Amino acid sequence: MGSKLVPFLFRSVPRASCPFRRPQWRAFSVSRPVRSDSLFVHRDTPDNNANIPFEFTAQNQELIKEIVSRYPSQYKKAAVMPLLDLGQRQHGFTSISVMNEVARILEMPPMRVYEVATFYTMYNRNPTGKFHVQVCTTTPCMLRDSDAVMKACEDTLGIHHGQTTEDGLFTMTEVECLGACANAPMVQINDDYYEDLTYDSTVSLLNALKHASDATGANLGGAEGLNTQSANAAKSAAGEHAINRQGRSVEAGNLQVPSPGPLSGRKSCEPAGGLTCLTGEPWGNETLRKDGAL
Ligand code: FES
Repeated sequence: MGSKLVPFLFRSVPRASCPFRRPQWRAFSVSRPVRSDSLFVHRDTPDNNANIPFEFTAQNQELIKEIVSRYPSQYKKAAVMPLLDLGQRQHGFTSISVMNEVARILEMPPMRVYEVATFYTMYNRNPTGKFHVQVCTTTPCMLRDSDAVMKACEDTLGIHHGQTTEDGLFTMTEVECLGACANAPMVQINDDYYEDLTYDSTVSLLNALKHASDATGANLGGAEGLNTQSANAAKSAAGEHAINRQGRSVEAGNLQVPSPGPLSGRKSCEPAGGLTCLTGEPWGNETLRKDGAL
């Protein structure tokens, strides 16, 4: 009997102990979990509480009428996102008063507006610096050394993720993909993308912004900075540096702030090393128009 059981034990005991020797599971991810550092509830602060009055300017009220008219009157709450954006641009950040005003205009419960503003990270619910530097560190940017860009920001500005410089000029945030992966690594500064960055080009960009802003007092990075006429008039009257825009690059205080876009010499997202395919004349004529227009 014993001799009959031995082969069976040899075969089945190692098989039965397999699950204990080699676990049949593995973790989906081995990256370090990063907890959110945003507080999703509102806390009153001296800068941000419901007692601070907020009203849209006359010009923005005209814009609001136009935006709301795009939606059927019973669905005007659909305009909540553009109105919050407008409020943020006017006030500098999406304060509780901005949200309450949007709720009043769109006849929505304020809680519905708070839900939208807390869901989308583009609504800054705390004051930010004049230049909001958002550094992308998602995989394509990380593979092309977004760490160097982060380090350049930290070294030049002396701040870390989520912090603002003491002079209120720069806020730095680490963000996920901003959709310009072909020109990685990149940062968004206010409304502008600066791409194909290196440690050195990031340092020069930040220094140029800082010095130009110190010299002229203008907000060079945002939509309002594009309107430099009135700022120039005031500055010429005071005998100060004027701001000179060539295309989208800015010359201010003898400093050149580069045009937004790739800082590597690329024009767009064409291959950095030149074309590797489609370099010859197209063959065949079936895909070409006969009139020679293409
Ligand atoms: S990963 Fe940085 S822009 Fe897409």
